[in-house]
Amino acid sequence: METRILNTNNPRRLSEAMKAAAGQLADGQCVGLPTATVYGLAGDALRPDAATQIFEAKERPFFDPLIVHLPSRDWLNRVTRIPEESRAMVEALIAKFWPGPLTLVLPRQAIVPDIVTAGLETVAVRMSAHPVFRAVVEHYGQPLAAPSANRFGHISPTAADHVMSELGGRIPLIIDGGPTQHGVESTIVKVDAGELSLLRAGPITPEDLGGVFQALCQSHGHQPSDAEMEAFYERLGVSFAAISRGEENVTMVAPGQMESHYAPRTPLRLIEPGVQVEIYHGEEEASVRLGSLAFRRPSTAAHFACEEILSPTGDLREAAASLFAKMRRLDEARLDMIIAEQVPEHGLGIAIMDRLRKAAAHHV
Ligand code: TXA
Ligand code: MG
Repeated sequence: METRILNTNNPRRLSEAMKAAAGQLADGQCVGLPTATVYGLAGDALRPDAATQIFEAKERPFFDPLIVHLPSRDWLNRVTRIPEESRAMVEALIAKFWPGPLTLVLPRQAIVPDIVTAGLETVAVRMSAHPVFRAVVEHYGQPLAAPSANRFGHISPTAADHVMSELGGRIPLIIDGGPTQHGVESTIVKVDAGELSLLRAGPITPEDLGGVFQALCQSHGHQPSDAEMEAFYERLGVSFAAISRGEENVTMVAPGQMESHYAPRTPLRLIEPGVQVEIYHGEEEASVRLGSLAFRRPSTAAHFACEEILSPTGDLREAAASLFAKMRRLDEARLDMIIAEQVPEHGLGIAIMDRLRKAAAHHV
């Protein structure tokens, strides 16, 4: 199959791309589309045949459910069933973060095909803020299932050419909306009996979620105690005490369930900042090629065949935005190993460290 890429850099092209995408979607095909997090592979979320195409193009196992992207707020009640005790929390999250990089896992309605939720009684929903994604989903007028547009187990794409190298020849169309803004996948939270748990760290940080919880309590005339804040943050896997003290690392336990399938092909080792890299490679020394993925400063310790720096100013947003593109570049540089430096684990650093640990877990 020939894969076309359409760009959107003027209003006429955007309008043509939008119509071409809607045409493919109406045909049950899937289309690569930009969101503000990473590129997605979108198909009509209410058509099992379209979902099947997504799973096949990605070689994704059928037990792994898809995220459903809504055209508008109205669709929330058609796709999910929000229990009374969760309603205030859901409303507060949506008011603050939608459209945006927050995915909610909620009980589903029967309209959502089983293949989309992998048979679960819940469905993951979000509303993207990306103008191109919004244009397509609003024009199409139906929810779109859209996982990240990579083959299963690979790094998520943050540019149209990444989608081409992952899925070229397997899908008819990719819409180019330029590099993505956030660079890491959406934050996923589950809302259950009014309480939040964090399923995936992302651009909406635990600190952001804590702010909503506090404001929600206050809007009911209740000032949450430290113990209540502690309990709220604990379900998100971070320490309220560490946040209050402004500590560099606020994660309580490094997440146990490593997705070992989420990685570059090149082995990646995660090191603490400032650690001297010494790799013993005996006889083969001259032929070993190392790459560095550093946070702020180039490493002086080892000589690297390639070096990428995430953010010279130490800005976690900038670091996240370029993380996957830099990982991908290193992965394509025929290296024997990538040495990645840890970043401070607060705010967006929690999501970055999560992705780095997953990339490293593949190879231990
Ligand atoms: O930023 C994003 O969320 C991107 C863009 C394209 O929207 N999408 C994305 O989708 O990252 P995907 O499929 O690569 O990751 C979605 C994750 C998967 O790990 C899946 O297991 C989980 O969400 N998920 C989906 N539905 C779920 C559910 N009902 N319960 C728990 N986890 C769910
Ligand atoms: Mg993915």
